[in-house]
Amino acid sequence: MPKATVNGKEIEFEKGMTALQVAELAGEEIPRFCYHERLKIAGNCRMCLVEIQPGPPKPAASCAMPAAEGMKIITNSPMVKKAREGVMEFLLMNHPLDCPICDQAGECDLQDQSVAYGRGKSRFDEHKRAVKDKYMGPIVKTQMTRCIHCTRCVRFMEEIAGVPELGATSRGEHMEVGTYIEKGLSSELSGNIIDLCPVGALTSKPYAYKARPWELKKTETIDVLDAVGSNIRIDSRGNEVLRILPSVNEEINEEWISDKTRYGYEGLKNQRLDKPYISRDGKLVEASWNEAIHEVAVVLKKVRPEKVAAIAGDLVDVEGIYALKKLLDELNIKNYDCRQDGAMYDPLNRASYIFNTSIAGIEQADLVLIIGSNPRYEAPLVNARIRKVVVAKNLPVALIGTQVDLTYKYEFLGQDSGLIEDILNEKHPFSEKLKAAKNPIIIVGNTVYKRTDVEGLIGQIYNLAIKFNVIREDWNGYNALQKVAGRTGALDVGFVAPKGGRDITSINQGIRANEFDVIILYGADEIDTAKYLEKTLVIYIGHHGDVGANIADIILPTAAYTEKDAIYVNLEGRAQKASKAVFPLGDARVDFEIFSLIAEKLGIKSFSNQAEIRSELENKFEVFRNIGALTKAKWTSEVSHTRVNKNPIEAENFNFYLSDSISRNSRTMVNCNAEFRSEEHT
Ligand code: SF4
Ligand code: SF4
Ligand code: FES
Repeated sequence: MPKATVNGKEIEFEKGMTALQVAELAGEEIPRFCYHERLKIAGNCRMCLVEIQPGPPKPAASCAMPAAEGMKIITNSPMVKKAREGVMEFLLMNHPLDCPICDQAGECDLQDQSVAYGRGKSRFDEHKRAVKDKYMGPIVKTQMTRCIHCTRCVRFMEEIAGVPELGATSRGEHMEVGTYIEKGLSSELSGNIIDLCPVGALTSKPYAYKARPWELKKTETIDVLDAVGSNIRIDSRGNEVLRILPSVNEEINEEWISDKTRYGYEGLKNQRLDKPYISRDGKLVEASWNEAIHEVAVVLKKVRPEKVAAIAGDLVDVEGIYALKKLLDELNIKNYDCRQDGAMYDPLNRASYIFNTSIAGIEQADLVLIIGSNPRYEAPLVNARIRKVVVAKNLPVALIGTQVDLTYKYEFLGQDSGLIEDILNEKHPFSEKLKAAKNPIIIVGNTVYKRTDVEGLIGQIYNLAIKFNVIREDWNGYNALQKVAGRTGALDVGFVAPKGGRDITSINQGIRANEFDVIILYGADEIDTAKYLEKTLVIYIGHHGDVGANIADIILPTAAYTEKDAIYVNLEGRAQKASKAVFPLGDARVDFEIFSLIAEKLGIKSFSNQAEIRSELENKFEVFRNIGALTKAKWTSEVSHTRVNKNPIEAENFNFYLSDSISRNSRTMVNCNAEFRSEEHT
């Protein structure tokens, strides 16, 4: 490895590193504004100036200077100090210095660095320039006079988000960063530019003037508004969540989150269920927990097990779903399912319902075939990872399904359901590409699992995967793209009808035919049979007054994801722990406790605490012994050779901004939906 010296200290470095990276390796701090390790180098702020020897007798921008063997990097000489003071003085020449009313204050790079590297005084007494604020949509608030033209936001939108809606116009003192024609930023990742902006030019509109950073309690946890399981930090004050920021997890979300992950939390303040309710004379009235649990116990004691069905929703946690399953099993109730949208993932074959390659594993792929999915909205961070490889290595991507904008170039193969058979039988030119690929991956969207010919189509895709080495000992390129956070965990613990029970298709038929006396909806708000449930007794366990609660006769309020310690399994099959940031609202309780209370009332053995339930989960399932890590799966079941019908393959028809009961109640998500015409996002 080549060697350089930093302030006289010798250090080995990897070829291709910059002087800034080598100095950091040696433990030296280099101030910077425009440099960001995940963006291309711009070299336009000049804050990272250092002295380089041998070289010209002037400071050099270390972020743009490739390190070389024998290079001497000096970061603490009088020349460097003076250079940094000069840059800082120029940067502040036009900066408004309105820190007391600036939302960035307290976490502002310019503020921090001017204290550490500035000269304390300015020699300029000219008028400062002022720039008109730009409208950038419901998420990003602008105060463009504060912009220091680092172009991080411009580069993010172009390189990472793939939606080049930002740019700089004019030169010198007249340069302005904006959207050219004033419009909202339509990217589903646009909120990340708020974190990237080193000053208070771009701040969070919904969080504007709400708090100062030092007032906030910070809780590291995970997001559940899609199946990616992005790592996040919840900032709260008292019992209120004030903002959500990304936490770095290189294997999942790197340091980005989607706009829904960032602003969905606003929905936690609206339409919440904070007390148990029981229907009396056709009206829901408030009840105590004792009354509500007693009522549920009476109902479940009276009814015949075959007359009860339970459906779990998209946001359920593992402990809750497992406690409910145990309760139903004890009561001999066999009609239950967690696939409320009818996506028939095979619960006995884990490899068929997880993203086997892993999100980080996409970087090893050399060909991607997407079938029936729009990953941009179904799993934005998976799509961002694909885009990253497309940009870095020109990764070829092909798509069978609805032709959508994925933010990168791909080969559109068509929508015909016969295409997979053609590729399999080498009657399609794409077969050659699959054959030549070393690490191909196939991404299968949720809609494919909703088709009536799911067994036949998945069977064909599986055969394709085997034939073209997509699945082999050292590589599994078969990937189901789940879109909701609760499903993988629910499938892992087996929340699907056991032998003799009715699965979701049969439950839905039963609901239409009025065959059930009692329906338990555990957070199930996306069922399309809700209108047939008027005459059935519905018990709703959840946190929002949404579809399920509207048709309920008994409501048991639960804590939302920010209000409990719970386990969720992401689309890769990685179990992660969510941490409680605030207390449950009103009288709401943690999910598994509610099922334990019902069990207790019925005289059935139940879990007395979370440790007990977690220890049982760990004993029974490998995935829960590996919290935070990947638990790989092997294809285990037979593949069906049933026929495939002629229906075209389509992408999921869902609204990214309003996909669940939480985001539907978020004002920012509603505004984004209105502005960006989300029907086009499907
Ligand atoms: Fe102060 Fe930073 Fe805001 Fe500028 S961007 S006004 S330095 S807090
Ligand atoms: Fe940099 Fe912020 Fe200006 Fe964008 S708005 S160029 S991120 S200072
Ligand atoms: Fe090097 Fe901006 S950080 S020029």
